[in-house]
Amino acid sequence: MSLQPKTDLTVLGLTVLGIETSCDETAAAVVRLGEDGTVSVLSSIIASQIAEHAPYGGVVPEIAARAHVEIIDSIIREAMAKADLGFADLSGVAATAGPGLVGGVMVGLSAGKAIALARGLPLVAVNHLEGHAVSARLDQAIDYPFLLLLVSGGHCQLLEVAGVGACRRLGSTIDDAAGEAFDKIAKSMGLPYPGGPALEKLAEGGDPTRHPLPRSLLGRGGFDFSFSGLKTAAARMAEGVTDPGERRDLAAAVQAAIARQLTDRTAKAMASYAGRHQGHDLRFVVAGGVAANKAVREALRSAATANGFSFFAPSLAYCTDNAAMIALAGAERLAAGFISGMEAVARPRWPLDEAAALTDPTHVPGRKGAKA
Ligand code: KG4
Ligand code: ZN
Repeated sequence: MSLQPKTDLTVLGLTVLGIETSCDETAAAVVRLGEDGTVSVLSSIIASQIAEHAPYGGVVPEIAARAHVEIIDSIIREAMAKADLGFADLSGVAATAGPGLVGGVMVGLSAGKAIALARGLPLVAVNHLEGHAVSARLDQAIDYPFLLLLVSGGHCQLLEVAGVGACRRLGSTIDDAAGEAFDKIAKSMGLPYPGGPALEKLAEGGDPTRHPLPRSLLGRGGFDFSFSGLKTAAARMAEGVTDPGERRDLAAAVQAAIARQLTDRTAKAMASYAGRHQGHDLRFVVAGGVAANKAVREALRSAATANGFSFFAPSLAYCTDNAAMIALAGAERLAAGFISGMEAVARPRWPLDEAAALTDPTHVPGRKGAKA
């Protein structure tokens, strides 16, 4: 299906329940898109399964699906109660329909369908990545179009976002996602899951210059990312590093190497985007779990300033998976007239820019690992 960019939210004043179950967070939220386009998060409930998966060092799909089934009803009830609303007050229900662990996605999507059917509400099947794409708009007004760097556990891509449902991919990772690189390197250093926040904490006060790490793709043309060389080199180094000070320096070096690569590719994309949007306001948004990393955030903020872009990032609570971003993506879709039927299916893979994913064989749509 090809969608035309629609930036004019003509039907305003929508209250939407959002449901998110694509990975290891069971989440529900109620968001209101006001008549003047303002966004209010009336509730945002997140139940993390980190403790259930931690013994295995990563997300176990069967455990995730079962945990979602067990608590989805109570999480939705809690979100409605916190918003102080009944189902009759809603304008629609939005549920993540992919990409992600399909057993979990089915749980949230089925719950959304059941509420929509029972209450006669429109259903919006939301792409999880579109949720991340609008996540910064939960805190502040950001006009379309914008350049987006989406960096999560499953994705690492640069996109031009022209409007609701209108994304064009400029580049993406040719191997691991940035969050996956954080997680795998942290694991090889013996840090707990999820590795990104643990590695950031360890890196505090470390010297990033002490351990030389490979500078994958730096300075090359194009907007693609690669983290596998860094992952292998860091894992090899980690084997011989036991001194606490040295471990801290290695963590700082890894974090700096990831931030440097993200910033190098993004700066190139900014220059290209600016050339195509001359005379217009230039906006850059970073979103996804890795956007919570302070070093990454600050490096990108500097690149944005240097290239004449306004910089936007979600508040920390909306960087990682949540249902408020799914509710907002659903509300924007509803306002633009996009409604899904009951035949909407859970999709393990679902690239935001389907055209680019189908025509570019170097990029497998979606991801290989547990997170998507
Ligand atoms: O967006 P998200 O919650 O889930 C996906 O859709 O993938 O992102 C989770 C990823 C994990 O890989 C996690 O390690 C990483 O984001 N992450 C971080 C930080 N917080 C979360 N990476 C680096 N620094 C952080 N502070
Ligand atoms: Zn996510």
